[in-house]
Amino acid sequence: MNILEVSQITKHFSGLVALDNISFNVNKSEIVGLIGPNGAGKTTLFNIIAGSLKPTRGKISFDGKNITGLPTNRICRLGLARTFQIPKPFEDLTVLQNIEMAEMFGHATGEGKKRVGSPMEICEIVGLSPKNETLARILSASDKKRLEVARALATSPRILLLDEFAAGLSAQESEWASSFVKDMQRSFELSIIWIEHVMRILMKNVDRVFVLDHGVKIAEGTPKEVVNNAKVLQAYLGGSA
Ligand SMILES: Nc1ncnc2c1ncn2[C@@H]1O[C@H](COP(=O)(O)OP(=O)(O)O)[C@@H](O)[C@H]1O
Ligand SMILES: [Mg+2]
Repeated sequence: MNILEVSQITKHFSGLVALDNISFNVNKSEIVGLIGPNGAGKTTLFNIIAGSLKPTRGKISFDGKNITGLPTNRICRLGLARTFQIPKPFEDLTVLQNIEMAEMFGHATGEGKKRVGSPMEICEIVGLSPKNETLARILSASDKKRLEVARALATSPRILLLDEFAAGLSAQESEWASSFVKDMQRSFELSIIWIEHVMRILMKNVDRVFVLDHGVKIAEGTPKEVVNNAKVLQAYLGGSA
């Protein structure tokens, strides 16, 4: 059964067509990968799904409810959370305070949502408990990524949108990120849309992949189907494929 339905989403930025008639569904408890070269429109699509941008045309349904154009906090409270490509914590709050703020923003109960845990438990889940009193501004880049996902989990999501979660992490941290996402999905029955450039990690963890290029969906299928798709190879290799 679908939890999210993206129908014919188009987004214009003055002259630029950032997204052109994009449709896809995400099933309950499914991990879907979203890939495409830089500038393909991936983050713009997340912004539209999460409510921080309005589409020029098209509709987003979450659990059968039309959420197109609703404000971000309403969408979050329904159970849709996202992380940012560049983490956006409150720099002058501690790790724990950041997680508490996120919990308030997401109103952890209601709407059939299951609480992932208390803020302290979430610190533990993401491996930040030794740093729960540390100010966000002095965290390392990889710890900021952990805090970013902790804040998303604190809103008790049913679907999680991850924007380049493993980007900028070391090989070892990427392995952690990879098994972490899978564990989250299983433990909390999450649906996930996962944007990632680290193909090796994405491909072994997702059920299906969608590929955007210049705002157009050029392919979808299993990871194996997609990596062998001529259009996808061409988009990534710039015509030399
Ligand atoms: N707020 C905005 N105003 C104008 N152009 C934008 C805006 N956000 C994104 N774009 C443009 O839309 C295109 C898609 O960007 P983006 O969604 O960030 O791509 P991706 O995440 O796939 O790298 C790019 O050409 C980008 O410059
Ligand atoms: Mg992006």
